[in-house]
Amino acid sequence: HDERPEDRLGRRMHDLRISVMDRCNFRCTYCMPVETYGEAYRFLRREERLDFAEIERICRQAASLGVEKLRLTGGEPLLRPDLAVLVGMLRGIDGIRDIALTTNGVLLPEQADTLRAAGLDRVTVSLDALDEVVFARLSGGHGSVRQVLRGIDAALAAGLPTKINMVVQRGINDSEVLPLLERFRFTPVSVRFIEFMDVGNRNKWNIDAVVPSRELRDRVAARWPVSPLPARYGGEVASRFRFDDGAGEIGFISSVSDPFCGGCTRARLSSEGKLYTCLFATEGTDLRRVLRDEAANDEALREMLRSVWLRRGDRYSEERALVPAHGDVQPKIEMHYIGG
Ligand code: GTP
Ligand code: 5AD
Ligand code: SF4
Ligand code: SF4
Repeated sequence: HDERPEDRLGRRMHDLRISVMDRCNFRCTYCMPVETYGEAYRFLRREERLDFAEIERICRQAASLGVEKLRLTGGEPLLRPDLAVLVGMLRGIDGIRDIALTTNGVLLPEQADTLRAAGLDRVTVSLDALDEVVFARLSGGHGSVRQVLRGIDAALAAGLPTKINMVVQRGINDSEVLPLLERFRFTPVSVRFIEFMDVGNRNKWNIDAVVPSRELRDRVAARWPVSPLPARYGGEVASRFRFDDGAGEIGFISSVSDPFCGGCTRARLSSEGKLYTCLFATEGTDLRRVLRDEAANDEALREMLRSVWLRRGDRYSEERALVPAHGDVQPKIEMHYIGG
């Protein structure tokens, strides 16, 4: 057996992104619009979610197949009680070199220190606007810019390297790009701009709302000149630039205008234990069934992970780029459920 399986396109399994909680305390219009995720929406029940021991078991087997990087996502991962306990368990796995967290930041002030102490390496905070009105329109009226900024400060104070992710939508928040940069230039926080994607089926995606990274980069460079930085690894998600005046670095994540499937080494685990080999997957593999089957041991789990990876041929963003009218033919999995 090769210990590090390659998929049908020759890609290794290197990152595992784990959604630990399908709920969120925000209702971002592009992710969990309140029309769908209202009072009546049925989220997973506690026993339907993987528990920490189950997540740890999967990560251990994934690490034995080559996974080195873990990212905890949601929904909102900080809504998961005692998340730091999970971080501590994952920290103990041989081969895991990096544990990151994606959060909306609101709960960081009370949790950053504990997470850091448990072994979290770094955080990425979502922040789509600096203006409170624009922010509230995007978050569905939950949380505030003030709270998120306090969360970022708490992460930095705890010694956690911190990045910001901003999903840019034309006419909605693209006017916030320069103000956000102005605020974080000359800080250790790097801001990354994400092209609005057609994840899930409920966010009314429209190509006209996408601001291509090239256009955005020109807008930024007209104000503050930037120079490209070399990729740190093949298939890096963000193209990075540095400000020529030494104010730090920024990134562009161009899944629509310049897809990066060729180097995609990411697997995704939903909160109920389904394994997905693409952000745009329509079907996952039920690992919970194996975990909860008394007869199945770690070896069986590992073989299941391996066989899923060997069969993998996903390259959704590249296909979308080839077929401009790529329609919503199949129901895709929703973002809050599979993680960002
Ligand atoms: P680092 O580990 O800090 O390098 O993180 P990253 O660059 O992988 O980025 P992060 O996990 O913060 O992801 C940022 C955003 O990029 C996500 O919220 C998605 O919108 C998008 N993204 C990340 N991974 C993928 C992917 O595999 N496919 C697509 N299409 N988009 C992705
Ligand atoms: N397009 C791009 N990024 C998205 N995210 C969620 N929905 C989308 C979308 N439609 C990402 C953002 C957010 C993270 C939780 O998920 O990066 O910060
Ligand atoms: Fe919650 Fe993040 Fe989705 Fe917004 S984008 S609803 S903060 S999971
Ligand atoms: Fe990977 Fe799928 Fe994203 Fe392509 S679209 S980079 S295969 S997750």
